[in-house]
Amino acid sequence: MNLLITGGAGFIGSHVVRRFVTQYPNYNIVNLDNLTYAGNLENIKDIDQLPNYSFVKGDITDLDQMRSVINEKEIDGVIHLAAESHVDRSITDPLIFVRTNLIGTSNLLQACKEAWKDNWEGKLFYHVSTDEVYGSLELDHSMFTETTAYDPRSPYSASKAGSDHMVRAFYHTYHMPVVISNCSNNYGPNHFPEKLIPLFINNIINRKPLPVYGSGENVRDWLYVEDHARAIDVIFHKGSHGDTYNIGGHNEWSNIDLIKTLCRVMDEKLGRSNGESEQLITYVKDRAGHDMRYAIDASKLQNELGWTPSLQFEEGISKTIDWYLNNKEWLANVTDGSYQEYYKKQYQ
Ligand code: NAD
Ligand code: TYD
Repeated sequence: MNLLITGGAGFIGSHVVRRFVTQYPNYNIVNLDNLTYAGNLENIKDIDQLPNYSFVKGDITDLDQMRSVINEKEIDGVIHLAAESHVDRSITDPLIFVRTNLIGTSNLLQACKEAWKDNWEGKLFYHVSTDEVYGSLELDHSMFTETTAYDPRSPYSASKAGSDHMVRAFYHTYHMPVVISNCSNNYGPNHFPEKLIPLFINNIINRKPLPVYGSGENVRDWLYVEDHARAIDVIFHKGSHGDTYNIGGHNEWSNIDLIKTLCRVMDEKLGRSNGESEQLITYVKDRAGHDMRYAIDASKLQNELGWTPSLQFEEGISKTIDWYLNNKEWLANVTDGSYQEYYKKQYQ
């Protein structure tokens, strides 16, 4: 198996690459990533010397480059994670999301279709998507299932929804073997400090304000990133072609409760007095079009493929905070931008 993983220098992609490189030494893993601001090869430094791993600096919006890589590396399988992923950035610059998420995914599908010449034996295109395509729930007990109608509301979720539709179109029109998963919010090591949890960990360390959007009542369902990587492994190997699987943590938190928990645990770990970090909480203007609540019903994945989350949130958040406290250099390089200079020079 020659397996192409896109976006493997990013947050979730790096955990997926590590899992596949170490669990499947007989697979050749090609990590293709364009090293945008979110891509950092430090994230996979521990495994980049293994003989079944290689890296290609590549841009999924470049169709010819995707054609060359898929042909030259004789790719049989794709796990596609490369994307623009931050809602706030999508509000500021929606078109890069259309380019990367919608056009980039369509390029990859087209390049695979041409290389595989409509002979689908032993081939698979796995598209990693988000629960945000389903829209926003009320503050009640409803949940997203695989049959919930798409209702994306941000440029990010709309571009991901569009990419999901293209993947399904290639399945129905050309019979390309595909599988899609839609996952809830991830957290864990190597998460870029623009997203809620790593940003707030960094700000607490540095005693900077914690900007809570709106009332802080918005709810997210949090999953530890290694549990997501394990779900992707299960779905890649056992999922039914043409099918969709929701992945979630059964772990809903309002932002404000989550932030207060972060403050409490970090005060303990940093030896600060109880309540010190909570004083950093600052309510700010709400995000435009802020989705109120996401919640995933992952029972299909549990019943059909036997996957459940392995980590309780208390353990996961403690491990995550410890990782950031033990990797201050990673955090400093990412926040001051020096990580980009280093790899830019190497891959010019
Ligand atoms: P991330 O922003 O940390 O990483 C994205 C990676 O894609 C980076 O390494 C970046 O360099 C690369 N990339 C961006 N544009 C590219 C291009 N044109 N060509 C090649 N590579 C490019 O994102 P993440 O949080 O790790 O998310 C990975 C995937 O999982 C995304 O598809 C996202 O939609 C999905 N997802 C994320 C979450 C979450 O909570 N973070 C939840 C569900 C699904
Ligand atoms: P985020 O990590 O950006 O993920 P997503 O928007 O994809 O769910 O945000 C998680 C929640 O935290 C979301 O409701 C927005 C909120 N949030 C803040 O209140 N302040 C912040 O500085 C950030 C980045 C997010």
